[in-house]
Amino acid sequence: MHGIVKRFPGVIANAGVDFDLLPGEVHALLGENGAGKTTLMNVLYGLYRPDAGEIWLRGRRVAFSSPREAIGQGLGMVHQHFMLVKPFTVAENIVLGQRSPREPLAHDMRQTHRYLRSLSGQYGLAIDPAAPVWTLSVGEQQRVEILKALYRGAEVLILDEPTAVLTPQEVDDLLAILRRLAGEGKAIVFISHKLGEVLGVSDRITVLRDGKVVETLPAQAADEHGLARRMVGREVLLRVSKGPAQPGEVRLAVQNLSAVNDRGLPALRGVSLEVRTGEILGIAGVAGNGQTELEEVITGLRRATSGTVTICGHTATNRSPTAIGALGLAHIPSDRYAMGMLRYFTIAENLVLQRVGQAPFTQRGWLRKDIIRQEAQRLTAAFDVRTPSVENPARTLSGGNAQKMILARELARQPKVLLAAQPTRGLDVSAIEYVHRTLIAQRDSGVAILLISTELDEILALSDRIAVMYEGQIVGVMDGPGADIHQIGLMMAGSKRSSL
Ligand SMILES: Nc1ncnc2c1ncn2[C@@H]1O[C@H](COP(=O)(O)OP(=O)(O)OP(=O)(O)O)[C@@H](O)[C@H]1O
Ligand SMILES: [Mg+2]
Repeated sequence: MHGIVKRFPGVIANAGVDFDLLPGEVHALLGENGAGKTTLMNVLYGLYRPDAGEIWLRGRRVAFSSPREAIGQGLGMVHQHFMLVKPFTVAENIVLGQRSPREPLAHDMRQTHRYLRSLSGQYGLAIDPAAPVWTLSVGEQQRVEILKALYRGAEVLILDEPTAVLTPQEVDDLLAILRRLAGEGKAIVFISHKLGEVLGVSDRITVLRDGKVVETLPAQAADEHGLARRMVGREVLLRVSKGPAQPGEVRLAVQNLSAVNDRGLPALRGVSLEVRTGEILGIAGVAGNGQTELEEVITGLRRATSGTVTICGHTATNRSPTAIGALGLAHIPSDRYAMGMLRYFTIAENLVLQRVGQAPFTQRGWLRKDIIRQEAQRLTAAFDVRTPSVENPARTLSGGNAQKMILARELARQPKVLLAAQPTRGLDVSAIEYVHRTLIAQRDSGVAILLISTELDEILALSDRIAVMYEGQIVGVMDGPGADIHQIGLMMAGSKRSSL
């Protein structure tokens, strides 16, 4: 890719980017939120037309006007939100995408299964073509997307933050698969904010900042601090410091809480915990052990089958999210696109979402657009949400900036209790530093914080106390400072030894 320029209204997402990719390499693309990584790959994949610049593929100049054309030339992209039809099998999903409208439906499925099985074996994907997609874990669904790209003959594979939603074991599996694909001569673009992964899996690293290439360097010549500095343009603290907690009265109490998951199976089995003002209680655990259900029950998005939730002394069990919010709970949701924002509403509207009906935003029944805009400008400046205008739809924000918008909105409500679930998923190193500082400042100003995170590093960095969740239960609680990582790891894996 030579001199790629891509503009959006008010933003230059790519300002003359040169990027090259070799067969047999894993090439990482690094950069702050909004640096232009996804845009560059969308240009390559035919989703966007560049305003200037050239793309050359195997010595020939190409200009894709759609992903279909890019796929036809051997490109494949694995998106973060999978586009699989859940009731269908793996093979059906893969053939579904492939079929042209003129082709008859009568595929020889047996032959397809055989081919997919051999392809899956060749690259160590461990996917059964006959499995219905709804039975697969997130990591497996991702591997189906990879298999789909390979089935269509991909020689170039683009993965945009593939590890953000995976468990640590799934991450290791994926990285091994990427090495194997590169070993077979595929060219891989790997986008990630996790510097450790990037250093572990890549051959070369390109760092983008503000739509420009800062540097392309061999991975052996790089280290975490140096990469962070190149991305951000300053020294980044990879861990923020905090003073000891000064816990006060109990603000959030969960007692003997039980609930079922979407399939009707027990997901919470008698969870009890307390969070006090001025402290951060971190819930550690491998994804899928009831953390999402706990988040949903506390915030009123899922019914408790038994037990109670109390916020600031008031019963919150099975009340509506609005009523629970009014008791003083703010919520940074783990699934920001599904629960955290209205993508087609403006950034300003998103920022005053729960407060829009109140003064000063509504006066005598009239929406005060000017006051809403002022508040939005204040919040975007205070929380460093980068956008040319608060009147743009929220969907135009890059992933990290969308997360900062949600944080800004929730903290602007001056909550008594904050439930922060995966608050830094998809954020770059400096945004993580910022969010961590903000959470600690909130704690110090007296907010009670329940932190749910599958990132053990994050739990260890922030928590005053740590509770480990396993199969719907709290299997141990310990002090955060000086916590034994090894012991937490064992508990996360199901060993019930508790330090209590
Ligand atoms: N469809 C769009 N309309 C308007 N602006 C956009 C659009 N897509 C991206 N942008 C803007 O282009 C810039 C680059 O965004 P991009 O999504 O490429 O960043 P990124 O490096 O992938 O960031 P992140 O790490 O947060 O995913 C951002 O300022 C973003 O707001
Ligand atoms: Mg992106």
